[in-house]
Amino acid sequence: MPHFFATTPRGLENVLNQELHDLGIKKTKIGVAGVGFESNWEGCYKANLCLVSASRVLYPVLDFPAYEPEQIYHNVLKHDWTKYIKPNQTIAMDSSVRDSKIKDLRIVALKAKDAVVDQFREKFNKRPDVDADNPQLPISLRLAKNICTVSLDTSGGSLHARGYRDRGAPAPLKENLAAALIKMTGWDEKSPLLDPMCGSGTFCIEAAMMALKKRPGIYRKRFAFQNWLTYQKEKFEELVKTALSEELDDVPFRIYGFDNDPRAIAASKANSENAETIIATLFKRQDLSQLEPPAESGVMVVNPPYGERMGDIKALLPLYEELGQVIHGPLKNWKCFVLSSEPEFIKALGGRPKVRHRVFNGAIQCEFVGF
Ligand SMILES: C[S@@+](CC[C@H](N)C(=O)[O-])C[C@H]1O[C@@H](n2cnc3c(N)ncnc32)[C@H](O)[C@@H]1O
Repeated sequence: MPHFFATTPRGLENVLNQELHDLGIKKTKIGVAGVGFESNWEGCYKANLCLVSASRVLYPVLDFPAYEPEQIYHNVLKHDWTKYIKPNQTIAMDSSVRDSKIKDLRIVALKAKDAVVDQFREKFNKRPDVDADNPQLPISLRLAKNICTVSLDTSGGSLHARGYRDRGAPAPLKENLAAALIKMTGWDEKSPLLDPMCGSGTFCIEAAMMALKKRPGIYRKRFAFQNWLTYQKEKFEELVKTALSEELDDVPFRIYGFDNDPRAIAASKANSENAETIIATLFKRQDLSQLEPPAESGVMVVNPPYGERMGDIKALLPLYEELGQVIHGPLKNWKCFVLSSEPEFIKALGGRPKVRHRVFNGAIQCEFVGF
């Protein structure tokens, strides 16, 4: 049975593991920034199509010690790369290096690329070209503590980029991070969800997708595995057909997004139209200070502005105090969750959070707290 490794931002591994189990993939192993799993290729297709918290699904094919560049060349040559693509297709290497004797990630990529193209040249007298932007066979190389792991990237481009967001507002969350945070709130997908500072609408759209049973991969034009000679087209098409048949036309509650910036509201609406979730979402220009919560309570989730410069933190404290008053006042019957990078902001919310999770928003370490 093949082994795969689904990656996710650090702090979200448990969410991803639960998602895999919910898909019926039970043989999993939680790692750092990802979860390993054992399944047939159909499971890999399903993971790419359905996981909301994953960034990529990798298929590791080799791991070996590498202290010298030539070891990379010789070991990569041991795998048969010609079984995935034809020589007229394209490849690209994505490499990273950590705590190793070889320091230069470009050397790692170069040696691996040389091995792959030499293998094709030997067999076909023709070699695949490199296409850094849109490779048909993306190869991932991770050199950590002198151990090199080589994987095929079955996704091809990060899964967070669903494709519905063409209008951004400042500082949008990655879609898979927003979706994973919603999962962490324990929202039942049957009651209202509210983001009072919604920006480009990411929380609202991801929540609406969950409620309407829209699988995130449905929006995607192509996954890398669809370019390979090993692609089981009928199996994937069957999964897509099933996913589409499970989608709902509407839900008996609404997902609310407010923001005081009209451009943010325009972006949220446009993005929700693109995602075909507009039926379930309601966006309105409203300042936090004017917040009138919907009658039926549910989950509030928000990623307020965060300061990028030192002075910003002080200037933003009153906004967090106001948010705290909303949480402990009009929203006191709601489950409220806030993502923040600064302990001072969390303190300004007042009260004692019932739950605290450490998560990473890109390189920024954040806390996701719940009241
Ligand atoms: C970090 S952004 C949210 C990004 C959003 N999560 C996304 O993924 O696009 C913070 C948002 O808070 C909004 N905002 C700031 N102060 C506000 C206030 N007093 N009332 C309502 N919205 C506010 C800003 O306009 C901005 O869109």
